[in-house]
Amino acid sequence: MQQPLILAPEKKRSQTNTSDEKTDQTQSHTNGISGGKSATTPQTHRFDLDFTQSVINATGPKASSRMRKVMASLIRHVHDFARENEVTVEEWMAGVEMINEAGRMSTDKRNEGQLLSDIIGLESLVDEITYKLATDATDAPTSTAILGPFWRANAPARKMGESIVHNIPDGDHTFMHGTVMDYLTGEPIEAAELDVWHTAPNGLYEQQDENQVDFNLRGRFTTGKDGRYNFYCLRPTSYPIPYDGPAGKLLQLLDRHPMRPAHIHFIVSAPKYKPIITQIFDRRDKHITDDAVFAVKESLMVDFLRRESDPKADFELPYDFRLATFEDAKKNSLAGTTEESASFGADVVHGSGGH
Ligand code: BEZ
Ligand code: FE
Repeated sequence: MQQPLILAPEKKRSQTNTSDEKTDQTQSHTNGISGGKSATTPQTHRFDLDFTQSVINATGPKASSRMRKVMASLIRHVHDFARENEVTVEEWMAGVEMINEAGRMSTDKRNEGQLLSDIIGLESLVDEITYKLATDATDAPTSTAILGPFWRANAPARKMGESIVHNIPDGDHTFMHGTVMDYLTGEPIEAAELDVWHTAPNGLYEQQDENQVDFNLRGRFTTGKDGRYNFYCLRPTSYPIPYDGPAGKLLQLLDRHPMRPAHIHFIVSAPKYKPIITQIFDRRDKHITDDAVFAVKESLMVDFLRRESDPKADFELPYDFRLATFEDAKKNSLAGTTEESASFGADVVHGSGGH
Protein backbone atom coordinates (compact mmCIF):
# COMPACT_ATOMS: atom_id res chain seq x y z
CA MET A 1 0.00 0.00 0.00
CA GLN A 2 1.38 3.39 -0.93
CA GLN A 3 2.39 5.45 2.14
CA PRO A 4 1.17 9.04 2.16
CA LEU A 5 3.95 11.58 1.74
CA ILE A 6 4.90 13.01 5.14
CA LEU A 7 7.13 16.03 5.01
CA ALA A 8 10.06 16.12 7.45
CA PRO A 9 9.79 18.93 10.06
CA GLU A 10 10.83 22.30 8.62
CA LYS A 11 13.58 22.84 11.19
CA LYS A 12 15.38 19.61 10.50
CA ARG A 13 15.29 20.14 6.74
CA SER A 14 16.66 23.67 6.86
CA GLN A 15 19.68 22.33 8.79
CA THR A 16 20.64 19.97 6.04
CA ASN A 17 19.35 21.35 2.79
CA THR A 18 21.52 22.93 0.12
CA SER A 19 21.27 26.67 -0.50
CA ASP A 20 18.94 26.05 -3.46
CA GLU A 21 16.62 24.08 -1.29
CA LYS A 22 16.72 26.69 1.50
CA THR A 23 15.36 29.25 -0.94
CA ASP A 24 12.56 26.84 -1.69
CA GLN A 25 11.58 26.66 1.99
CA THR A 26 9.88 30.00 1.52
CA GLN A 27 7.40 28.38 -0.87
CA SER A 28 4.21 26.90 0.47
CA HIS A 29 3.99 23.10 0.60
CA THR A 30 0.50 22.16 -0.32
CA ASN A 31 1.23 18.53 -1.17
CA GLY A 32 -0.59 18.62 -4.46
CA ILE A 33 -3.68 20.50 -3.30
CA SER A 34 -4.03 23.80 -5.12
CA GLY A 35 -5.12 25.70 -2.06
CA GLY A 36 -1.89 27.27 -0.89
CA LYS A 37 -2.26 30.57 -2.71
CA SER A 38 -4.47 33.48 -1.85
CA ALA A 39 -7.67 33.76 -3.80
CA THR A 40 -6.34 36.91 -5.48
CA THR A 41 -3.13 35.24 -6.83
CA PRO A 42 -3.56 34.85 -10.59
CA GLN A 43 -3.48 31.19 -11.66
CA THR A 44 -0.42 30.71 -13.91
CA HIS A 45 -0.55 26.91 -14.20
CA ARG A 46 -3.33 24.34 -14.08
CA PHE A 47 -1.33 22.22 -11.62
CA ASP A 48 0.36 23.07 -8.33
CA LEU A 49 4.06 23.45 -9.09
CA ASP A 50 4.95 23.62 -5.38
CA PHE A 51 4.03 19.97 -5.02
CA THR A 52 7.16 18.90 -6.93
CA GLN A 53 9.43 20.84 -4.58
CA SER A 54 7.73 19.37 -1.54
CA VAL A 55 8.45 15.86 -2.85
CA ILE A 56 12.11 16.80 -3.41
CA ASN A 57 12.31 18.32 0.06
CA ALA A 58 11.27 15.02 1.63
CA THR A 59 14.80 13.70 0.98
CA GLY A 60 16.44 13.04 4.33
CA PRO A 61 19.84 14.19 5.62
CA LYS A 62 21.49 10.81 5.18
CA ALA A 63 20.97 10.69 1.40
CA SER A 64 24.30 11.00 -0.45
CA SER A 65 24.86 14.23 -2.36
CA ARG A 66 24.77 12.37 -5.70
CA MET A 67 21.51 10.66 -4.78
CA ARG A 68 20.02 13.97 -3.62
CA LYS A 69 21.00 15.70 -6.88
CA VAL A 70 20.03 12.94 -9.29
CA MET A 71 16.70 12.15 -7.66
CA ALA A 72 15.70 15.81 -7.38
CA SER A 73 16.33 16.15 -11.10
CA LEU A 74 14.48 12.91 -11.89
CA ILE A 75 11.46 13.97 -9.83
CA ARG A 76 11.38 17.36 -11.56
CA HIS A 77 11.57 15.83 -15.04
CA VAL A 78 9.03 13.09 -14.33
CA HIS A 79 6.57 15.55 -12.78
CA ASP A 80 7.02 17.94 -15.70
CA PHE A 81 6.48 15.05 -18.09
CA ALA A 82 3.22 14.11 -16.35
CA ARG A 83 2.00 17.71 -16.30
CA GLU A 84 3.05 18.45 -19.88
CA ASN A 85 1.23 15.40 -21.21
CA GLU A 86 -1.60 15.48 -18.69
CA VAL A 87 -0.96 11.80 -18.02
CA THR A 88 -4.10 10.06 -16.78
CA VAL A 89 -4.32 7.44 -14.02
CA GLU A 90 -4.99 4.75 -16.66
CA GLU A 91 -1.89 5.73 -18.66
CA TRP A 92 0.29 5.86 -15.54
CA MET A 93 -1.00 2.41 -14.52
CA ALA A 94 -0.18 1.04 -18.01
CA GLY A 95 3.38 2.33 -17.54
CA VAL A 96 3.64 0.75 -14.10
CA GLU A 97 2.36 -2.54 -15.50
CA MET A 98 4.93 -2.38 -18.32
CA ILE A 99 7.73 -2.06 -15.76
CA ASN A 100 6.26 -4.85 -13.62
CA GLU A 101 5.99 -7.13 -16.65
CA ALA A 102 9.60 -6.35 -17.60
CA GLY A 103 10.61 -7.37 -14.07
CA ARG A 104 8.62 -10.60 -14.19
CA MET A 105 10.18 -11.54 -17.56
CA SER A 106 13.76 -10.84 -16.52
CA THR A 107 15.94 -13.81 -15.63
CA ASP A 108 19.66 -14.48 -15.61
CA LYS A 109 19.32 -14.96 -19.39
CA ARG A 110 17.01 -12.08 -20.20
CA ASN A 111 17.16 -8.46 -19.13
CA GLU A 112 13.90 -6.86 -20.22
CA GLY A 113 14.47 -3.68 -18.19
CA GLN A 114 17.69 -3.06 -20.10
CA LEU A 115 15.92 -3.75 -23.39
CA LEU A 116 13.29 -1.12 -22.58
CA SER A 117 15.99 1.41 -21.82
CA ASP A 118 17.87 0.44 -25.00
CA ILE A 119 14.97 1.00 -27.38
CA ILE A 120 14.56 4.57 -26.13
CA GLY A 121 18.28 5.15 -26.71
CA LEU A 122 19.15 5.55 -23.04
CA GLU A 123 22.01 3.05 -22.83
CA SER A 124 23.62 4.62 -25.92
CA LEU A 125 23.27 8.12 -24.50
CA VAL A 126 24.70 7.11 -21.12
CA ASP A 127 27.57 5.36 -22.92
CA GLU A 128 28.32 8.56 -24.80
CA ILE A 129 28.16 10.69 -21.64
CA THR A 130 30.44 8.31 -19.77
CA TYR A 131 33.16 7.74 -22.32
CA LYS A 132 33.29 10.56 -24.83
CA LEU A 133 36.60 12.39 -24.66
CA ALA A 134 36.71 16.17 -24.84
CA THR A 135 39.12 16.02 -27.77
CA ASP A 136 37.93 15.59 -31.33
CA ALA A 137 41.40 14.45 -32.44
CA THR A 138 41.40 11.98 -35.30
CA ASP A 139 43.73 9.70 -33.36
CA ALA A 140 41.14 9.32 -30.60
CA PRO A 141 40.83 6.00 -28.78
CA THR A 142 38.45 3.41 -30.21
CA SER A 143 34.88 4.58 -29.64
CA THR A 144 32.74 2.78 -27.15
CA ALA A 145 29.26 1.32 -27.70
CA ILE A 146 26.64 -0.19 -25.44
CA LEU A 147 27.26 -3.48 -23.63
CA GLY A 148 23.78 -4.85 -24.34
CA PRO A 149 22.21 -7.59 -22.24
CA PHE A 150 24.03 -10.64 -23.65
CA TRP A 151 27.57 -10.40 -22.35
CA ARG A 152 28.62 -13.34 -20.13
CA ALA A 153 31.46 -13.20 -17.63
CA ASN A 154 34.26 -15.77 -17.81
CA ALA A 155 34.13 -16.68 -21.49
CA PRO A 156 36.75 -19.34 -22.25
CA ALA A 157 40.34 -18.12 -22.61
CA ARG A 158 41.45 -19.19 -26.12
CA LYS A 159 44.77 -19.37 -27.91
CA MET A 160 45.59 -16.89 -30.69
CA GLY A 161 44.41 -18.20 -34.04
CA GLU A 162 41.66 -20.36 -32.51
CA SER A 163 38.05 -20.24 -33.69
CA ILE A 164 35.16 -19.20 -31.48
CA VAL A 165 32.73 -20.97 -33.85
CA HIS A 166 31.42 -24.42 -32.96
CA ASN A 167 29.12 -26.60 -35.11
CA ILE A 168 28.19 -23.90 -37.63
CA PRO A 169 29.72 -25.16 -40.88
CA ASP A 170 27.61 -22.98 -43.20
CA GLY A 171 28.27 -19.51 -41.70
CA ASP A 172 30.45 -16.86 -43.31
CA HIS A 173 33.70 -17.80 -41.56
CA THR A 174 35.97 -14.82 -40.99
CA PHE A 175 39.58 -14.31 -39.95
CA MET A 176 39.74 -11.25 -37.72
CA HIS A 177 43.09 -9.74 -36.80
CA GLY A 178 44.82 -6.56 -35.71
CA THR A 179 46.79 -4.84 -32.99
CA VAL A 180 45.84 -3.43 -29.63
CA MET A 181 47.81 -0.19 -29.28
CA ASP A 182 48.23 2.97 -27.23
CA TYR A 183 46.15 5.68 -28.93
CA LEU A 184 48.76 8.38 -28.40
CA THR A 185 52.05 6.58 -29.04
CA GLY A 186 50.88 3.80 -31.36
CA GLU A 187 52.94 1.38 -29.24
CA PRO A 188 51.56 -2.18 -29.11
CA ILE A 189 50.00 -3.14 -25.78
CA GLU A 190 51.14 -6.39 -24.21
CA ALA A 191 48.74 -8.49 -22.09
CA ALA A 192 45.65 -6.79 -23.52
CA GLU A 193 42.57 -8.97 -23.28
CA LEU A 194 39.90 -9.06 -26.00
CA ASP A 195 36.62 -10.48 -24.81
CA VAL A 196 34.51 -11.11 -27.92
CA TRP A 197 30.93 -12.31 -28.50
CA HIS A 198 28.38 -12.38 -31.32
CA THR A 199 25.23 -14.18 -32.48
CA ALA A 200 24.85 -17.28 -34.61
CA PRO A 201 23.39 -16.93 -38.13
CA ASN A 202 19.94 -17.70 -36.65
CA GLY A 203 20.22 -14.38 -34.78
CA LEU A 204 20.53 -15.96 -31.33
CA TYR A 205 23.24 -15.68 -28.70
CA GLU A 206 24.18 -19.07 -27.29
CA GLN A 207 22.36 -18.49 -23.98
CA GLN A 208 19.14 -17.92 -25.93
CA ASP A 209 19.53 -21.09 -28.00
CA GLU A 210 19.54 -24.60 -26.55
CA ASN A 211 21.03 -25.98 -29.78
CA GLN A 212 24.32 -24.11 -29.36
CA VAL A 213 27.10 -25.34 -27.11
CA ASP A 214 27.82 -23.40 -23.94
CA PHE A 215 29.93 -20.28 -24.68
CA ASN A 216 29.66 -20.76 -28.45
CA LEU A 217 30.78 -17.66 -30.40
CA ARG A 218 32.56 -16.23 -27.36
CA GLY A 219 36.16 -16.17 -26.27
CA ARG A 220 38.91 -14.21 -24.55
CA PHE A 221 42.26 -13.65 -26.28
CA THR A 222 45.38 -12.15 -24.67
CA THR A 223 48.04 -10.32 -26.67
CA GLY A 224 51.79 -10.89 -26.44
CA LYS A 225 54.57 -8.27 -26.71
CA ASP A 226 53.59 -7.28 -30.25
CA GLY A 227 50.03 -6.41 -29.18
CA ARG A 228 48.70 -8.50 -32.04
CA TYR A 229 45.60 -10.70 -31.98
CA ASN A 230 43.87 -12.99 -34.46
CA PHE A 231 41.03 -15.51 -34.35
CA TYR A 232 38.27 -17.01 -36.45
CA CYS A 233 34.66 -15.93 -36.02
CA LEU A 234 31.66 -15.46 -38.33
CA ARG A 235 30.66 -12.48 -40.40
CA PRO A 236 27.59 -11.75 -38.30
CA THR A 237 24.05 -11.15 -39.52
CA SER A 238 21.46 -8.61 -38.43
CA TYR A 239 19.05 -9.92 -35.81
CA PRO A 240 15.97 -8.82 -33.87
CA ILE A 241 16.29 -7.95 -30.20
CA PRO A 242 13.83 -10.08 -28.19
CA TYR A 243 10.39 -8.59 -28.95
CA ASP A 244 7.98 -10.94 -27.21
CA GLY A 245 7.78 -8.77 -24.07
CA PRO A 246 7.09 -5.15 -23.09
CA ALA A 247 10.00 -3.80 -25.19
CA GLY A 248 8.53 -5.52 -28.27
CA LYS A 249 5.07 -4.20 -27.44
CA LEU A 250 6.42 -0.67 -27.10
CA LEU A 251 8.24 -0.99 -30.44
CA GLN A 252 4.98 -2.09 -32.03
CA LEU A 253 3.08 0.84 -30.51
CA LEU A 254 5.76 3.15 -31.89
CA ASP A 255 5.56 1.48 -35.33
CA ARG A 256 9.23 0.46 -35.13
CA HIS A 257 11.13 -2.72 -36.04
CA PRO A 258 13.34 -4.67 -33.58
CA MET A 259 16.38 -5.20 -35.86
CA ARG A 260 20.02 -4.55 -34.97
CA PRO A 261 22.60 -4.28 -37.76
CA ALA A 262 25.20 -7.08 -37.85
CA HIS A 263 27.83 -6.47 -35.20
CA ILE A 264 30.49 -8.08 -33.02
CA HIS A 265 30.86 -7.11 -29.36
CA PHE A 266 34.16 -6.54 -27.55
CA ILE A 267 35.48 -5.61 -24.16
CA VAL A 268 39.14 -4.69 -24.55
CA SER A 269 41.19 -4.21 -21.40
CA ALA A 270 44.87 -4.06 -20.42
CA PRO A 271 46.84 -3.22 -17.29
CA LYS A 272 47.00 0.58 -16.73
CA TYR A 273 44.57 1.22 -19.60
CA LYS A 274 40.97 2.31 -19.42
CA PRO A 275 38.89 -0.66 -20.65
CA ILE A 276 36.54 -0.12 -23.57
CA ILE A 277 33.21 -1.78 -24.20
CA THR A 278 32.39 -1.57 -27.88
CA GLN A 279 30.88 -3.14 -30.99
CA ILE A 280 31.93 -3.07 -34.62
CA PHE A 281 29.29 -2.93 -37.33
CA ASP A 282 29.16 -4.33 -40.85
CA ARG A 283 28.95 -1.21 -43.03
CA ARG A 284 26.98 -3.13 -45.68
CA ASP A 285 24.21 -4.26 -43.37
CA LYS A 286 20.79 -3.01 -44.43
CA HIS A 287 20.01 -1.86 -40.87
CA ILE A 288 23.22 0.14 -40.47
CA THR A 289 21.24 3.41 -40.38
CA ASP A 290 18.30 2.26 -38.28
CA ASP A 291 19.60 0.25 -35.34
CA ALA A 292 16.70 -0.49 -32.95
CA VAL A 293 18.91 0.54 -30.01
CA PHE A 294 20.77 3.50 -31.61
CA ALA A 295 24.32 2.20 -30.97
CA VAL A 296 26.00 2.64 -34.40
CA LYS A 297 28.83 5.16 -34.74
CA GLU A 298 30.58 5.97 -38.01
CA SER A 299 34.01 5.14 -36.56
CA LEU A 300 32.83 1.65 -35.61
CA MET A 301 31.70 0.65 -39.11
CA VAL A 302 33.95 -1.92 -40.78
CA ASP A 303 34.41 -3.57 -44.17
CA PHE A 304 34.69 -7.34 -44.42
CA LEU A 305 37.17 -8.27 -47.15
CA ARG A 306 37.12 -11.41 -49.29
CA ARG A 307 39.82 -13.84 -48.09
CA GLU A 308 41.54 -15.97 -50.72
CA SER A 309 43.35 -19.25 -50.12
CA ASP A 310 42.35 -19.85 -46.51
CA PRO A 311 40.31 -23.07 -46.27
CA LYS A 312 39.03 -21.90 -42.88
CA ALA A 313 37.64 -18.49 -43.86
CA ASP A 314 35.79 -16.69 -46.67
CA PHE A 315 36.28 -13.22 -45.20
CA GLU A 316 38.95 -11.26 -43.46
CA LEU A 317 38.48 -8.40 -41.03
CA PRO A 318 41.47 -6.26 -40.08
CA TYR A 319 40.80 -4.00 -37.09
CA ASP A 320 43.05 -2.22 -34.58
CA PHE A 321 41.92 -1.19 -31.10
CA ARG A 322 43.31 2.03 -29.60
CA LEU A 323 43.26 2.37 -25.82
CA ALA A 324 44.04 5.31 -23.54
CA THR A 325 45.91 4.93 -20.28
CA PHE A 326 43.82 5.86 -17.23
CA GLU A 327 46.02 8.92 -16.92
CA ASP A 328 45.46 10.11 -20.50
CA ALA A 329 41.77 9.30 -20.30
CA LYS A 330 41.44 11.41 -17.18
CA LYS A 331 43.26 14.34 -18.79
CA ASN A 332 40.89 14.35 -21.75
CA SER A 333 37.67 13.34 -20.09
CA LEU A 334 34.62 15.52 -20.35
CA ALA A 335 33.62 17.31 -17.19
CA GLY A 336 30.96 15.19 -15.57
CA THR A 337 32.68 11.86 -16.14
CA THR A 338 32.79 10.61 -12.60
CA GLU A 339 35.07 8.30 -10.65
CA GLU A 340 31.95 6.27 -9.84
CA SER A 341 31.27 5.61 -13.51
CA ALA A 342 34.87 4.54 -14.10
CA SER A 343 34.77 2.06 -11.23
CA PHE A 344 31.47 0.59 -12.42
CA GLY A 345 33.11 -0.05 -15.82
CA ALA A 346 35.89 -1.86 -14.02
CA ASP A 347 33.36 -4.08 -12.21
CA VAL A 348 31.88 -5.15 -15.52
CA VAL A 349 35.27 -5.89 -16.99
CA HIS A 350 36.41 -7.83 -13.96
CA GLY A 351 33.46 -10.13 -13.99
CA SER A 352 31.03 -9.06 -11.30
CA GLY A 353 28.25 -8.33 -13.80
CA GLY A 354 26.68 -10.12 -16.76
CA HIS A 355 25.02 -13.50 -16.95
C1 BEZ B 1 22.97 -6.68 -28.29
O1 BEZ B 1 23.63 -6.18 -29.13
O2 BEZ B 1 23.33 -7.76 -27.90
C2 BEZ B 1 21.76 -5.98 -27.78
C3 BEZ B 1 21.85 -4.66 -27.42
C4 BEZ B 1 20.73 -4.02 -26.94
C5 BEZ B 1 19.53 -4.70 -26.80
C6 BEZ B 1 19.46 -6.03 -27.16
C7 BEZ B 1 20.58 -6.68 -27.67
FE1 FE C 1 24.53 -7.93 -29.92
